[in-house]
Order: sequence, then structure tokens, then C-alpha cells
Amino acid sequence: MKYNDINFNNKTILITGGAGFIGSNLAFYFQEHFPDAHIVIFDCFRSENTFSNGNLQSFGHYKNLIGFHGDILCGNLNSDEDMALLKAYEFDYIFHEAAISDTRVYDQEIVMQTNVNSFYTLIDMAKETKSTLIYASSAATYGSQPSPQTVGIEGPENPYGFSKYAMDQIAYRYMKENPEMTIVGLKYFNVYGEREFFKDKTASTVIQFGHQILAGKTPRLFEGSDNIVRDFVYIKDVIQANIKACAAKQSGVYNVGTSKPRSFQDIADILQKELGTDYGTEYFPNPFTGYQMHTQADISTSQEFLGYAPQWELEEGIKDYIDAIKFTYETEVK
Ligand SMILES: NC(=O)c1ccc[n+]([C@@H]2O[C@H](COP(=O)([O-])OP(=O)(O)OC[C@H]3O[C@@H](n4cnc5c(N)ncnc54)[C@H](O)[C@@H]3O)[C@@H](O)[C@H]2O)c1
Repeated sequence: MKYNDINFNNKTILITGGAGFIGSNLAFYFQEHFPDAHIVIFDCFRSENTFSNGNLQSFGHYKNLIGFHGDILCGNLNSDEDMALLKAYEFDYIFHEAAISDTRVYDQEIVMQTNVNSFYTLIDMAKETKSTLIYASSAATYGSQPSPQTVGIEGPENPYGFSKYAMDQIAYRYMKENPEMTIVGLKYFNVYGEREFFKDKTASTVIQFGHQILAGKTPRLFEGSDNIVRDFVYIKDVIQANIKACAAKQSGVYNVGTSKPRSFQDIADILQKELGTDYGTEYFPNPFTGYQMHTQADISTSQEFLGYAPQWELEEGIKDYIDAIKFTYETEVK
């Protein structure tokens, strides 16, 4: 589906983090709808290195890109030499998705270095080559601000959330100093959908519960899960937001959610319906302190300045996604 009249054919498009979940979906979106677009992916892919929380340092996976015909540069945001590879191109559009996306990495130095330092390089590059810059911010910038979370009222509570908040502050300064630039930050809420499997434990609960059910297990939820609600947004709405951001009426930072929070219990119940099971639910105490109990994106400015209109309710998103959940279970888990 084309979301506006922009013709991306013959445009040069950079997708950082293109081997990851959202980046690879963007790459395939352009490849499918604009076969003459020149798509360049920059991603460090995954090594076997882990952070102190035991998770991999990056989740990019070649399997997310099987079938992709564009350019791929394997490079690290933290390497000046690798970033210099991008100077061989003049990008019309830059979609910056690469980051430490794991919200539970507490090593502040590496999170800030990776997510923030590289942003200066990219934003300067966008300025020089007059590229439209769309970058991934995050709902994690809100911390435990009450719902509906509204752009401008942030309160990050972990290094990851702070790194995205710092990116937003840099972006605001560039917007002010360079009104000719188009810079759009997108604060994604909880994204789910195809090609998230390789995020391992940090993938959405939709795929995690889905695979538990497919393994014949009763889904295990935190106690009180019918009262823990999040703004779950389907990947196709995230793609819509990115495409519409390219024609933004105004540079800025915008929320990307549905504005219709749903509970973890809803996810388990919808999955059981789609998978034809009736295992009930098992509950266990929530081990996390400071756990977000309620998120809901205020999308009024996203609607006004981007024309963003979420199209996927949780029921429809899971229905659309279910075959991919089964496929990854068969090919990667079983
Ligand atoms: N998925 C969500 O729910 C969500 C929510 C809010 C914000 N975001 C943000 O959206 C963006 C995309 O997230 P995602 O869910 O696709 O995560 P992801 O981890 O699948 O994608 C990030 C990609 O960045 C790459 N990367 C990591 N460190 C890098 C480095 N040093 N150099 C080069 N590449 C590096 C990884 O290999 C990976 O392919 C991220 O910036 C993330 O913080 C995602």
C-alpha cells in the first residue's frame, strides 16, 4: 500500500539498522513498491558478543534480508571509518533505525556512545546532502509519565530512554537552526510484527506468547496482566508513519502508537483464538520494579502534521501476523 504520492523510484535511501526488525521491513517496503529505488542498508549485524545482561549486543540478522536486492554495508555506528563509507552516496532519504534497541542495557557509556554520538554524524550528513532525515526515537523517553504520553512531557528512566531523549534534543536544535531541513523523530510505542524474531528475548510479547502456545504451553503472564496495558502498534502502521513522515507538514518529534492501549491478557487471548487453543493462563509475580502499567500514545500531533492514522487494531494485527509467527516457530524454534 502506498501511503502518499511520493515517488521513491530513483531516489537513494539509507536505512541504518536495516538488518533489524523495523529497518528490514522498511527495506522490503521500498523494494516492493518502488523497484527503482536505490536502497542502502548500514548495519553491524550480530556478533556473538553480549552485554552484562546476557543479551546480544546487536540483533541484526541476515535472515531478515533474504530476498533483498539493494546494497548492504556491514558497519558499526561507533566506527568513524565505517560511517565514512556512507560518504560515497548522496542520500535523498535517511531512515535511522540502528541503535542499541535493548531497553535493559544499563551500561550508560556504550548506550550513549552508540545511540547519541552517531546521531551527530548522521544529522550533519543529512544537512550537507539535504537529505530528509527520519529517525527512531522511542516511547521509552516517557518513563512513567502518565497516559496519554504526550510529546514534550518526557521523563526517561533508563539509559536507553535517555539516549533517545538526547537524540530528540539534538534534533530540536538542528530543526531550529536549520529550518530548511526536514527532520522527523518517531517515538514508537510497543511494535510487533514480522521479522522481530531475531530480537530474541527483547522481541514483543506477541511472538513470545505465540511461540509458548505453539509449544503446547499455557501462556505465562504477570499477575494482574488484565490491568497492565500498553500501546501495541503493528509494524505496518510503523511503516505508514515513516512514509508519511517524509511529507511532514512540519519537522518535529511525533508519537507512533494506536492510542488504544490493550492488556497483555488481550494478547494471550487473541493468540489462543487465532491458534485454536484453550490453555487458559498461568500467572506469576512481576519481578520488575518501576514497571510501566499503562502506556497510550497521544497521536494528535502525528495525525495533524504527518497525516498518520493507525489502521491495525490488535485483533487484526495478530491475525495478519499469525502465519509469520507459525513460520518462525517451525523454522527457528522447533
Ligand atoms: N521495536 C520497538 O518496539 C521499538 C520501540 C521504540 C523504539 N524503537 C527503536 O526503533 C529502532 C529499530 O528497532 P528494532 O525493533 O528494529 O530493533 P533491532 O534491534 O531489530 O534493530 C536495530 C538494528 O541496529 C543494529 N545495530 C545495533 N547496534 C549497532 C551499531 N553499533 N552499529 C550498526 N548497527 C547497529 C542492529 O544490528 C539491528 O539490526 C531502534 O532505534 C529502536 O531503539 C523500537
